[in-house]
Amino acid sequence: MKIKNICCIGAGYVGGPTMTMIAAKCPHIKVNVVDINNDRIALWNDSNVDNIPIYEPGLSELVGQTRGKNLFFSTDVNAAIHQADMIFISVNTPTKTYGVGKGMAADLKYIELCARQIAAVATSDKIIVEKSTLPVRTAEALRSILDNTGNGVNFDILSNPEFLAEGTAVTDLLNPDRVLIGGEDSDRGRAAQQALVDVYANWVPKKQILTTNVWSSELSKLTANAFLAQRVSSINALSELCEVTEADVNEVARAIGSDSRIGSKFLKASVGFGGSCFQKDILNLVYIAQTYGLNEVADYWEQVIIMNDHQKRRFAKKIVKTLFNTVSGKKIALMGWAFKKDTNDTRESASIYVADYLLNEQAEVVVYDPKVTSEQIYSDLDYLGTRSHEENRRLLKVVKNPLEAVHKAHAAAILTEWDEFKHFDWEIIYNNMLKPAFLFDGRILLNHNELEDIGFNVYTIGRGE
Ligand code: NAD
Ligand code: UDX
Repeated sequence: MKIKNICCIGAGYVGGPTMTMIAAKCPHIKVNVVDINNDRIALWNDSNVDNIPIYEPGLSELVGQTRGKNLFFSTDVNAAIHQADMIFISVNTPTKTYGVGKGMAADLKYIELCARQIAAVATSDKIIVEKSTLPVRTAEALRSILDNTGNGVNFDILSNPEFLAEGTAVTDLLNPDRVLIGGEDSDRGRAAQQALVDVYANWVPKKQILTTNVWSSELSKLTANAFLAQRVSSINALSELCEVTEADVNEVARAIGSDSRIGSKFLKASVGFGGSCFQKDILNLVYIAQTYGLNEVADYWEQVIIMNDHQKRRFAKKIVKTLFNTVSGKKIALMGWAFKKDTNDTRESASIYVADYLLNEQAEVVVYDPKVTSEQIYSDLDYLGTRSHEENRRLLKVVKNPLEAVHKAHAAAILTEWDEFKHFDWEIIYNNMLKPAFLFDGRILLNHNELEDIGFNVYTIGRGE
C-alpha cells in the first residue's frame, strides 16, 4: 500500500517537526497537521515563518520550504481524518492530575478523544499510528474503541514512538539512530507496518528502521527515556559525592564515559533534568509496574525521580545557605528558564522549582531567558499553585536584558546552558552586582577560574569549593 495522504492530530513539539520532516522528504505525500488549539495553528500558518510556535534550530526554514506545497496546518480535524490513508496521533499524554493513578499514570483522555473522533468520521480504511508516548498495551484500548464505535471500516494500529530530543529535533529527525515501528502479527498488520517503513525509507537507511510487535515498541519508548534519565540521575548522585570529596564530576564523567561499554553521552551533571518526557514517562513506568504487582521494579525506577527532585532542591538550598542562610529581600538573577538550551519549552524545567524555593524564602527573583516569554514563566509558576497569581507577579520579574537581571543582584544562577551565557562579558556583570558577588553554575557551563579571577564567589555542581 502506498501512502498518499497523512493526517497528524496534534501540532505540538512532536507533531509539528516530525510532519515537517515527512513533508520535506516525501513530496509525493500530502501532510495535514491538525490541532484543536486555534492559536497554535494560527502561528504555524503565520506569514512570517519565524513566528511558528516552536523554537527549534532549522525548523522554520524547513517549514518555509514545505508549507502550502504538501504541508498544511489546520483546525479542521474531521476533514483531515476523512482524507487520510494514515493518521498519526501525536497529542499530549501528561501525568494524570486526578482520580486513580493521580500523579503517576499517563492521562489518556486526549488519545481516547482522538480515537473516538477517528471512529466517528472515517468512511474508508485507515492506518492509525501511535506517535505519542503511551503505556504498554494502549493499542488494545485503541482497538476496542475503534472497532466498537466505527462505521465498519478497517483500522490497523501501529506504534511508532518518537525519539527526537528538543533543541536538536531537526537533526534527530534527519539522522535518527533508529525508527521503531511496532505492528500486529497478521497479514494486514505486516502490510500496514510496511507502508510506514516505506514512508521513512525515503530518507532513513532501511537497517535503521526496526520493526517489532506493538507491545515491544510501546514499552521501548518508556524505557528508553527511563534509561536516559537514569544516567543523568546517576551522574547527579555522584556530583554530590564529588562536592564533599574533592573529586571533580566532569573528570569522573570523562573517566567513566571513556569505557566504550558505558559511553560518554548523557553524563553531564546538572541542576536536574527537566522536559516534558523524563519525569512523566518514568512515573508512568513505575505506575505500570505497580499495577502488575512488580513493586521492586517500581521502586527501582522511582529512585531516578527521587534523585532528580533532590538535585533541584539541593541546588536551591545551596544558594540560600551560601548567601548567609537568608535570601529574604535579596535579588537573585536566574539565567535561563527553558529546560535545556535551544528550545522555548519549559515543561518540568528545574528553573521552575528553584525559583519556587527561592520565592518561598522571600527572595526577589529576576529571570532572563533568551527564548521564553514572560507569560510562559508566570504560567509555569502559577501552575504550581504555591502562591497567588498576583504574588508571583509581584515577587518575580522577567527581563529581556541580562544586564538588567544582574543589576544590584546578590547572586546569579545559571539554570539553562544557553551558549550566549558563555559569551557574556562577566566582568561587566560582576561590576553591576552587589559584593560579594555569588555565581551558582547549575550547568557547569562557565570558566570558573576566570570568574574567580574577576572576583566572583563561584559554586558549581559537582566540585567542592
Ligand atoms: P504538545 O503538548 O506540544 O502537543 C500536543 C498537541 O495536541 C497540543 O497542541 C494539543 O492542543 C493537541 N491536542 C490534544 N488533544 C487533541 C485533539 N483531541 N485533537 C486535536 N489536537 C489535540 O505535546 P508534545 O510535546 O508534542 O508531545 C506529544 C506526545 O509525544 C506526548 O505523548 C509525548 O510524550 C511524546 N513525545 C514528546 C517528545 C518531546 O520532546 N516533546 C519527544 C518524544 C515523544
Ligand atoms: C528526551 C529524550 O532524549 C528523547 O529521546 C525523547 O524523545 C524525549 O525526551 P528531551 O527531553 O527533549 O528528550 O531532552 P534531553 O536532551 O533528553 O534532556 C532532558 C533533560 O536532561 C534536560 O533538562 C537536560 O538538560 C538534562 N540532561 C541531559 C542533563 O542534565 N545531563 C545530560 O547529560 C543530558
